Order: sequence, then structure tokens, then C-alpha cells
Amino acid sequence: MTSLQGTTLPAGLDDATLQQLSGNLTEQQLLWLSGYFYGRYSATTGGAQPQAAVAPAAAAPAAAPVPTITVLFGSQTGNSKKVAKQLADAATGRGLKVEVKDMNDYATRNLAQEKLMLVVVSTQGEGDPPVSAEELHQFLSSKRAPKLPELRYSVLALGDKSYVEFCKTGRDFDERLAELGGQRILNRVDCDVDYETSAEQWIEDVLSKIASEFAPAPAPASAAAPTASAPAAVKAEPAATVYSRKHPWEARVLESIQLNGRGSSKETYHLELDLAGSNMHYQPGDALAVVPVNEDPLVEEVLKAARLPEGESVDLGTERLPLSAALANRRELSVLTRDVMERYAALAPHAQLQELLTDTKQLQPYLYGRDIADLLTDFPTELSAQTLVETLRPLPSRAYSIASSLLAHPDEVHLTVGAVRYEAFGRQKQGACSTFLADRVAVDDTVKVFVEHNEYFKLPQNQDTDVIMVGAGTGVAPFRAFVEERVELGAAGRNWLFFGNPNFTTDFLYQTEWQQYLKQGKLNKLHVAFSRDQAEKIYVQNRLLENAQEVFDWLENGANFYVCGDKVRLGAAIQAALTQVVQQAGGLSADAATEYVRNLKKQRRYLEDVY
Ligand SMILES: Cc1cc2nc3c(=O)[nH]c(=O)nc-3n(C[C@H](O)[C@H](O)[C@H](O)COP(=O)(O)OP(=O)(O)OC[C@H]3O[C@@H](n4cnc5c(N)ncnc54)[C@H](O)[C@@H]3O)c2cc1C
Ligand SMILES: Cc1cc2nc3c(=O)[nH]c(=O)nc-3n(C[C@H](O)[C@H](O)[C@H](O)COP(=O)(O)O)c2cc1C
Repeated sequence: MTSLQGTTLPAGLDDATLQQLSGNLTEQQLLWLSGYFYGRYSATTGGAQPQAAVAPAAAAPAAAPVPTITVLFGSQTGNSKKVAKQLADAATGRGLKVEVKDMNDYATRNLAQEKLMLVVVSTQGEGDPPVSAEELHQFLSSKRAPKLPELRYSVLALGDKSYVEFCKTGRDFDERLAELGGQRILNRVDCDVDYETSAEQWIEDVLSKIASEFAPAPAPASAAAPTASAPAAVKAEPAATVYSRKHPWEARVLESIQLNGRGSSKETYHLELDLAGSNMHYQPGDALAVVPVNEDPLVEEVLKAARLPEGESVDLGTERLPLSAALANRRELSVLTRDVMERYAALAPHAQLQELLTDTKQLQPYLYGRDIADLLTDFPTELSAQTLVETLRPLPSRAYSIASSLLAHPDEVHLTVGAVRYEAFGRQKQGACSTFLADRVAVDDTVKVFVEHNEYFKLPQNQDTDVIMVGAGTGVAPFRAFVEERVELGAAGRNWLFFGNPNFTTDFLYQTEWQQYLKQGKLNKLHVAFSRDQAEKIYVQNRLLENAQEVFDWLENGANFYVCGDKVRLGAAIQAALTQVVQQAGGLSADAATEYVRNLKKQRRYLEDVY
């Protein structure tokens, strides 16, 4: 060890070397470098504090700090929020200052002051922002958005490649921030449903980039903690074993019951699965992800269309499987998506295929109802078994709203599954997962599952709050869980269910349970709409309008309003009906009623679980 002005230097560093390195630098440059080296140090130690400070000034660099990182998340079911929290923890671990903000609560006037912003946002609907991100999204695209020449940013977009508008909201944010003058720290990363690995990599890359480009803030790592501005931003989950796509729970089927009566146009199953021994937790409003197995006839169709033998072995990275097993268990066959079309088009040079890919208006109807066998038949080409599995998409799990409360059914989870069957392009087709559950698993078989928490579609924390629940078809599932939970908790808040389906005699899902609850006063109101029981169609939205004054009174009294079911048919219709309810019963103008409903959404009192 040598010594510089009374300070102990580590072996290999001496006064002359330091003078040579720093002699001609200005005070400003020295300060910047002290921060730069501290950043390098933090990056190699993961933010741990030095055991022996090199020099007092370097241990706490005083200038050119990394600005506080604003982490903005826009989330519908909680995935983006979870990633934002992970990002904040990792940043804190590196000694960086971070503030986590829900877009829902973000004051747009702060935008102009932001220096360093990391955005995590999902896409909902058909390329729409999640409700919580709507306002900021709209503000950014408007003329009122400020110029952002000082801003450094990066975007992580969450999405699902089965949607044509893959990661659209993330793309919008990324492009608009650049247009306003922001500089990307790192290019946007778009994540498919299995977002975890890509998200972890983005967190690592973006924080390393920040650490290498900026000097760290003076505060020691241990003092920095992520600040969550949203009240519910960081909530402790009860201790539970976490299952995932990679590590699902093998749940035994306890019961499988057809809920529709003979002659129904619908085919709905009530499934009860065993969670005993899993330590799996869920809450009403969460969904259960089920990993399906494709049906044999579809695997055969694909093999036939690809003109490949079933037994050839293929390499899937972590395992080798015969082609037929890989197609049945590991690859998406029943749904055709844009990314598969793109990879396939690179192998099969058909002009029409290229044309479809350049025109979303044509692509969307082409994809609807077509599967992998259709693609291989429409645009034939020679390809090996290995190329085929590399072109196809990993088989994703499907989500089902949980229809039970753990309080009412410890160690069980119940689902309400509508079997998807249709004819298209000359073949009878079946939804992969719904018919796997309906036809191919029997009592005592096991099914791979894990919980997909839905952060926001939850019962009110205050048990005195009333709830209005609107569900059509399988959309009734989460409301069975809600009512069971409220009954178990003895919640004082009132429960009102609107339920719709085609026919009373065959399609009144869980009829006896609802009637029992009504009789016991545990369900306060029930309104049903059986659309095909009379000449004119009657839907749940008609029932809402018939009860406009009372619905409005409940809302004014603080009730939460929930909608679950078909995205296309139910979501928009209920929002329109509720706006009309508010206009009519509240005596408001059309604009004021729209604003009223929009505010309910912003306050997270109007909650949707539509699919
Ligand atoms: C949060 C959430 C909760 C959900 N909860 C439930 C629930 O409680 N109960 C429930 O049953 N489902 C629920 N779903 C839907 C469920 O996840 C599946 O999407 C559904 O079961 C279909 O999956 P599948 O694998 O059977 O069909 P897939 O193999 O995914 O096939 C579906 C595809 O078939 C095509 N298709 C379907 N019908 C037709 C038609 N008539 N004509 C042409 N093409 C058609 C479409 O391209 C469609 O995308 C939920 C979804 C989400 C996101
Ligand atoms: C009803 C619904 C619509 C969706 N629409 C899209 C879409 O248009 N584009 C896309 O890339 N992803 C879409 N997704 C997938 C979500 O973006 C994805 O599940 C994401 O992980 C959700 O993150 P969040 O929990 O933060 O909202 C949709 C998901 C649902 C349930």
C-alpha cells in the first residue's frame, strides 16, 4: 500500500499514476469521473457498499448524479406492475433512486420535468391501452404534450403475439416519447405472454446502461428505497408457493359437470380441481391458467399438411421429442398468429402471403378461424420437422376466471369453461384448451395449472361496499367466487347480480346456488336476461336500463360495478348502457354521463374482466 495525502491506497495504485490520470482534468470533469467510477463499481458489486473507502470524496460522489428514475407502469391485470416493482427493487439494489408510479395516478404536468423514465405498459382490447394508461396515452398523443428534449427513457411493452396489434400501446409510448424529443437509453423490448425472461433481461440491460452512462446519486444504496406513489402499489402477498408456466401445479380433476341442459346451444362445464398439498393461493377475481394438450386429429392434420412423419425427433432447446409429441404438447396449432405467419413467409415465398402480412385489414380476417394446418395447406412449402417446430409458437396456457372462493372450498379451485367448437374453411375445429378440459380430461386425471393474479378485478377492501356484478355466459364465473367469499366473510355490503345467457331452461348457470343465496338474503338482487326466450332479444344491458334509478342510487352510494364476459359483445354494450343509466337517472348530459363512467373506471370502481 502507498499513500496519497494521508489516504491509504490499494496495492497497484500510487500517487504518480493518479496524477497522470487526473492531472489535466477540470473540477467538473473530476466530479463527473468520481461518479462514473462509482457507477462502474456499483455495477460490478450489484450496489454493495465498499468495505474500505478508496477516499472519502469518492465514497460519496457529490455531483453529476443519476436523476431519480421514474418508473411508470400501465397495467390491467398486474403483470406490468409486477415488472415495475421488480425493476424498482433491482435499481435500488444498484444504489439508484427510483420512484414507481401507476399511470392512473400520474400528474401529466410532471412530464416536462422528467429526466429519466422507464415505462412498463401492456396492451388491452384490440391494441388499446389499459384503462389506467388511457389518460396519459391520450395526453401524450395530443398537441398539449410538452417537448421532452431532456428526457432519457426506455419502454418495456407487455403483450400477446396472438393479437394482431401486438404490444401496440408500448409501441405508441415509445414512438411518441421519441417524437417529443426523448432519447432512448435502450430500444423498446416487446414481450409475449411468457414475459418474465425478456423483462428480467431488459431490467438488467437498462440498469447497466444507466449505471454506465450516468454517475450514481450520492445517497448510499441502503438508504434508497423505491417510493410507490400509488396507494396499492406495493402490497404484501400472503406466503404461497408460486407456480408458473415453467413450474405448474399438477391439479387432479375432482369433478367435471356439464352445466347446460339437453338441447342447449351452449356447452359449459363446471370443473373442480384439487389444490391439496400445493400451498397455492388465489383470491376471487384471479384467473387460473391451464396448460392444454392439442387434440390428436389436429396434430395429424398438421403432419399431413406439412408432409412430415410423426416420429422424427426434434430439438426444443431443453428437450428432444418426437415431432407428434412436440406438436401435441409444446406448440400452438389451433390458433394462427402474425408472428408465425412472418416466420413462415420467410420460408415459403408466396406473393399472397407477403401481401397479407403488409395489410392488417386483410390479415385479421385471414387469421380468424384458421389454424396451422390451414396455413400449411394454403401456402405449401418443403420444410423439415425441426424448421416446423422452430416456426411455430410455443403452446401458451389459457386463462379461466376462478369461480370459487378458497374460504368456501379450501384446497380447491373451480372453473366455468365454455367449449369452443366451430366449423371453418371446410373443417370442424375445436378450441385447444376448452375442449381439452371438456373432452380429454376425466375425473382423477391431472391438469397443469398456475394462478394468474388479476391485481385490480377484486372485491372492495371495505366489506360494507355494495357490488353490482354483470356477467353473461361464462362471465358469471368470478361472481360465483365473489359471492361465496362475501358470504364466508359475512360482508355487510349488498350483492346484485345481472346474468344473461340464451335460454332459461338450459342455460341458467348455477341457478340453484343463486336462488338459495337469494332466499337466504346473501344475494340481495338478481336480474336475469335470457335472450332467446321471447321474440325480441333481451340482454343484461336491457335489465340494467330497466333498473336505471336503483343502479344509479347504488353507484351514488359507493357501489363497485363489475363486468365479465365477451369482450366484443358485452364490454362495449355495458359501458354504453351504464352511461345511459347515469344520464337518465342522474339527469346528466351525455358528456357528463360519459365523464361519470370514465371516473368510475379511473377510481377502479368500474372493473372489467372481458375476454
Ligand atoms: C382473463 C381471462 C379470463 C377468462 N375466463 C374464462 C372463463 O371463465 N371461461 C371460459 O370459458 N373462457 C375464459 N376465458 C377465455 C379462455 O382463456 C380461452 O380463450 C377460451 O377457452 C378459448 O380457448 P381455447 O384454447 O379453447 O381455444 P383456442 O384454441 O385458443 O381457439 C380460439 C380461437 O378459435 C377461433 N374461433 C373461435 N370461435 C370461432 C368461430 N365461431 N369462428 C371462427 N373462428 C373461431 C378464434 O380465432 C379464436 O381466437 C378467459 C380469458 C381471459 C383472458
Ligand atoms: C382482453 C385482452 C385483450 C388483450 N389485447 C391485447 C392486444 O391487443 N395486443 C397485445 O399485444 N396484447 C394484448 N393482450 C395481452 C396483454 O397485454 C398481456 O396479457 C399482458 O401481459 C397483460 O399485462 P398487464 O397485467 O400489465 O395488463 C390482451 C389481453 C387481454 C386479457
